[in-house]
Order: sequence, then structure tokens, then C-alpha cells
Amino acid sequence: MRLKNISAAFRIVGSAVGIVTWLTAGIAMADSNQQEQAAAQVTGSFLQELSAAMNREMSKGGPSEAIKLCGELAPEIANRLSRENGWRVTRVGTRVRNPLLGMPDAWEQNILREFTARAATGESLADMTYSEVVSEPEGQYFRFMKPIAVQPKCLLCHGPAEAIPEPIKKILAKHYPFDRATGYKAGDLRGAVSIKQPLTRQEH
Ligand code: HEC
Repeated sequence: MRLKNISAAFRIVGSAVGIVTWLTAGIAMADSNQQEQAAAQVTGSFLQELSAAMNREMSKGGPSEAIKLCGELAPEIANRLSRENGWRVTRVGTRVRNPLLGMPDAWEQNILREFTARAATGESLADMTYSEVVSEPEGQYFRFMKPIAVQPKCLLCHGPAEAIPEPIKKILAKHYPFDRATGYKAGDLRGAVSIKQPLTRQEH
């Protein structure tokens, strides 16, 4: 009789644990969906703002004005979005012009490689995103990446040597002596918007 009671008790505790685990998993999933949506939204406004500004500058000021744009305005927008959201919002490249801002970390390098592999199987870069919760010594982070594809208008500064006008080559050579972000074709993976969001409070 006692044994039966104990095993019944175990069964009740067991199913309670099951329900709690199931609930927590559900909550975690709902959270990460929300995080993914928020990250996708910020990424979308980053890319839209940048693209609108680039179209404006390139028709108005010409290519050397537009260099300022990809060079100064893009990091400015990324900084503002980072501050406003309390995340790190950046732009990373598959090959990099500015190593300080554009160099992907190990996780980002893997995801860029995965985007390239997915594109090789016919998936459209425009529809891809990747998100994951990662654990690091300082805590957990929600990470999100969305590909940036090369458009024809990018070739002026990121295309093969013959597509880049002399005045632009000069400016690039002066400011970015170790520039590796050329030689792209339209449709190539140029890089990604990358978001890193702290999930746990870091107490120090
Ligand atoms: C008029 C020149 C110019 C054009 C056009 C241009 N870029 Fe750039 N791009 C730059 C410069 C300069 C940098 C370096 C930015 C910096 O100093 O952080 C850069 C950096 C980048 C980076 C960051 C990674 C890295 O290599 O440092 C990405 C991603 C990028 N460009 C994507 C694009 C895309 C996509 C387009 C087309 C929609 C484009 N660029 C058009 C000049 C240009």
C-alpha cells in the first residue's frame, strides 16, 4: 500500500515536472519568436534607411559623396540603433573594407558560410535569416543575422577593378589601404546585418 502511494506520488511529481518543463520551453520559444521579430524589424529599418540615403546621395552628390554614406552614415545608423535598443547592431562583411567595424567574429563567420551554402542550393538571400541563443562566459545572448546581397549600384565601390571609377579607387586606396571588399558581382553575399542582444543581466 505504502509503496503504491509512493509511486503514485512520484508519478504526480513526474508529470508536474513534465508540465513545468513543457511550459518553460513554451515560454522560451515565445520569447525567442518575439526577439526574432524585434531583431528583424530593426534590421529592416536599418537596411531601408541606408538604401534610401544611398539612392539620394548617389543621384545628388555623385560617387565620392556616396562613399561617405557607406563609410559614415551606415556606422552612424548602426550606432544609433545599438544605443536605442541596448543591443549591438552591426554590419559585417564576407570580405572586409573596414576591419574595425566590418570584421565578423567566429560565430558570424560560420553563419556567413551557412548563408553562402544555402544560396548555393537555390535559396534566395533576401528570404534568409538566422537566429540562435548562445552562451558565453559573461552570459547568454540572442544573436540574429540577415544577409546583405550585392546590388548593381554597389559595384561602383565593391565590384571588380574595371567597374570602379578612378576617382573612387583613389579615395578607397587612401582611406582603406588594406581593402578586401572588392571583386563582388551583383547577387553575391556581401555580408550581413548582425544583432547581438544580452539576455542575462551582467552583475559586476
Ligand atoms: C560610393 C562607394 C560605396 C558604395 C556605392 C557602396 N559601398 Fe559599401 N562600403 C563603402 C565603404 C567606404 C565602406 C567602409 C565603411 C567603413 O569605414 O566602416 C563600405 C563598407 C561596407 C560594408 C561593411 C563591411 C566592410 O567591408 O567594411 C558592407 C556590408 C557594405 N559596404 C555593403 C554595401 C552594399 C550592399 C552596397 C550597395 C547597396 C554598398 N556597400 C555600396 C563604400 C561603398
